[in-house]
Amino acid sequence: MRIIDFSLGAPGSSRRCPALTRTGQTVYSNQAMKNSCIHSLRMLFSLSSIAFLGWLPAAAQTRPVPNPQLASKELNARVEALLKKMTLDEKVGQLAQYTVEYSTGPGSSSLSYLDMVARGQVGSLQGVVGAEATNRYQHIAIEKSRLHIPILFARDVIHGHRTIFPVPLALAASWDPSAAETAARFGAVEARADGLTWVFSPMVDIARDARWGRIAESAGEDPYLGSAIARAWVKGYQQDDLSKPDSVAVSVKHFAAYGAPVAGRDYNTVDMSEILLRQVYLEPYRAAVEAGAATLMSSFNTINGVPASANPFILNQILRKEWGFDGMVVSDWQAINELRGHSIGADDATVARKALVAGVDMDMVGDLYGTVIAAQVRDGKLPESVVDEAVRRILRIKFALGLFDHPYTEVGPAYAATAEGRAAARKVATETFVLLKNDPVEGVGTLLPLTAKARKVALIGPMADNQREMLGAWNVTGNPKDVVTLRMALAERLGDKLFFAQGCDLLSGEAAIALQHINGLSADAHPAVPDDSKTIAEAVETAKQADVAILALGEPTGWMEGEAASRTTLGFTGAQQQLLEAVAATGKPVILVVLAGRPLELKWAAAHVPAVLEAWSPGVEAGHALADVLFGDVNPSGKLPASLPRAVGQEPLYYAQLPTGRPARGDLSHMPLNGDEKYMSRYVDEENSALYPFGWGLSYTRFSYEKPVISRAEVPLREILASRSEPVTKVGVDVKNTGGVAGTEVVQLYIRNTDASVSQPVRELKGFARVTLAPGESRHVEFPLSFNELNFYNAEVQRTVEPTTYTIWVGGSSLATAETSLKVE
Ligand code: NOJ
Repeated sequence: MRIIDFSLGAPGSSRRCPALTRTGQTVYSNQAMKNSCIHSLRMLFSLSSIAFLGWLPAAAQTRPVPNPQLASKELNARVEALLKKMTLDEKVGQLAQYTVEYSTGPGSSSLSYLDMVARGQVGSLQGVVGAEATNRYQHIAIEKSRLHIPILFARDVIHGHRTIFPVPLALAASWDPSAAETAARFGAVEARADGLTWVFSPMVDIARDARWGRIAESAGEDPYLGSAIARAWVKGYQQDDLSKPDSVAVSVKHFAAYGAPVAGRDYNTVDMSEILLRQVYLEPYRAAVEAGAATLMSSFNTINGVPASANPFILNQILRKEWGFDGMVVSDWQAINELRGHSIGADDATVARKALVAGVDMDMVGDLYGTVIAAQVRDGKLPESVVDEAVRRILRIKFALGLFDHPYTEVGPAYAATAEGRAAARKVATETFVLLKNDPVEGVGTLLPLTAKARKVALIGPMADNQREMLGAWNVTGNPKDVVTLRMALAERLGDKLFFAQGCDLLSGEAAIALQHINGLSADAHPAVPDDSKTIAEAVETAKQADVAILALGEPTGWMEGEAASRTTLGFTGAQQQLLEAVAATGKPVILVVLAGRPLELKWAAAHVPAVLEAWSPGVEAGHALADVLFGDVNPSGKLPASLPRAVGQEPLYYAQLPTGRPARGDLSHMPLNGDEKYMSRYVDEENSALYPFGWGLSYTRFSYEKPVISRAEVPLREILASRSEPVTKVGVDVKNTGGVAGTEVVQLYIRNTDASVSQPVRELKGFARVTLAPGESRHVEFPLSFNELNFYNAEVQRTVEPTTYTIWVGGSSLATAETSLKVE
């Protein structure tokens, strides 16, 4: 017997060309919007009262209400009253966002928008920062424009505004949602003090391919961890109350599935089954929407052929109808103009209309909505009610933020990273470091934590004293001068026992010079091309003077991680690998600190370097936080949120793979030597497994796990289907700190659905808990299981649970072996 859960899923029956549900929502087919739909849309939206029904009180709605503020009757009454007074041009003005200063994409402008603001032609501005600058525009909007509608000031506040925290991938490595919440809270307070009310964060794209540079901005490969982190970001920015004076509206991005471009190349096509889309890629967006996210950003990519920024299936059917989203959708940077590139319209008018009808409410920097939409309404090609609906969604955000009542920002002292913010950034950063390896060295023992035995330390590498690089990708308003580097922090502790050599640049030859120019070197400066062999030789001599060498290596984070930074190789850039090998060849014990916003290929290091610490891009307090962990003041507790590959050819690499009929078995460390070793799902020249898998991370202590115990080993199917989030059983496990120092373990629970109608992953994370234990201390940790953890999407793309057996593992990584099971009948 199979029982289908209709209420939570995506009933295929409702996917038809625009039609009206009884809540007044439209539902759409998952095909590209066809012109034939425009006719029915026109009829649909010409009933002016229909869209108004979209904010009926919760009790009258069949869909969820994830953000009660945006659905409130009072707020929507104010929206309607204002909308009635607006001319078509004023409405279209609300749909337009322009950028004033800072370019984060092609085609930006440095025009002044003062006159347009006065005429009510600007809904939002990005790039205006600071209380004075934002107030200047706001005064014009409030005092000079006819309807006094405030402007939304937006910015890429990604991992902090002035106080830069570790990059989002690092925050996910803490497996501590409160770390993301803290980063968001400081970002919100600082952004708001700078006049900003809307942040382009969090990015919740699932990222399973380390070639894609934007993995740095993500929470990594897993939907369960990613959803927990997504909720925390939203909470930190919005505080469940947009009207608070220090809340900002989020823009959850990039909707949808932007993190799965073919071949890991940024902006490229995304093609995947609807089951995979829903079960994995959409989950963190759904979590963010359920947490009350006010806005979403539509992505650049196509999804199964339909560009996300003109995709009624994801924007109207899934986001608005199924999830009940009442907020606003903004396009990514010129993504509406780029619809022409996707060949779904030859002219501006067509693509702008398609985007608006599909549910993209605001045009980021493209200047298409502002210039072509009004004419289309006047020519009868687009119903005005479509414009009205987009304006409603935008005005809701402005009302919910309280901007009509408090449009200005109090001018205070210039905002800089505060002591409080720095302390939080330092604490959070220490949680994000992942100790990949800490093998004993003969005659020395384990290298970490550093002890008095290591009296003289050689610090080597282009990441050791580089303030800018510690900030990582997308630190738009951060200031490199605020950064404490590892060299600075170690000098505080070691004084003249610290020796330093840069060893090489992050890039070699002319590329090194180009990078210096990119990072601010004046165009007139013509430094000599670096001589890697000379500087490496110097570094080797430096290492020889010390008891231990710390190498701080990575990739250029501002230029080669983040957006438009896809790579086909994943090694250290420039001559860094050479530097590492040369220093290791001295025989001095080496500690490698990896500073990069993506999983790098560390195979050589894993084989030859005794201690490896993954440190990502740690932010303003990089040096202090690293020193805290290197010296053992803080015991590392981070766990990998993304698998580290052995070779780039394994990408996309993730633990939750589907099984195959020919699973790889036996020793894969050598080439297959006969047919039995060959004809299975494997590489002939590399192992299948990750070098360091998802969830991996060591500590300066050790943890042991007892056999997990399940409170009910058999549960009737009906009970699970009725449970939603109510636990039907619990898995308990005793975890013990068996080492000599206190430590924090991230206890992880994985399941495998062994008998489903649709093939299910070999393991899926379904619970985790951070547990701090004194030496010798034990703790009983319990993980509740309900429909929410046990469901999957069946072939009809409906969320369900079927009769099956789940194998359940608990442990300190995705390799967990302590096992129990649950039978569902
Ligand atoms: C393009 C990026 O994809 C997006 O993440 C960012 O928020 C916008 N540009 C605005 O800068």
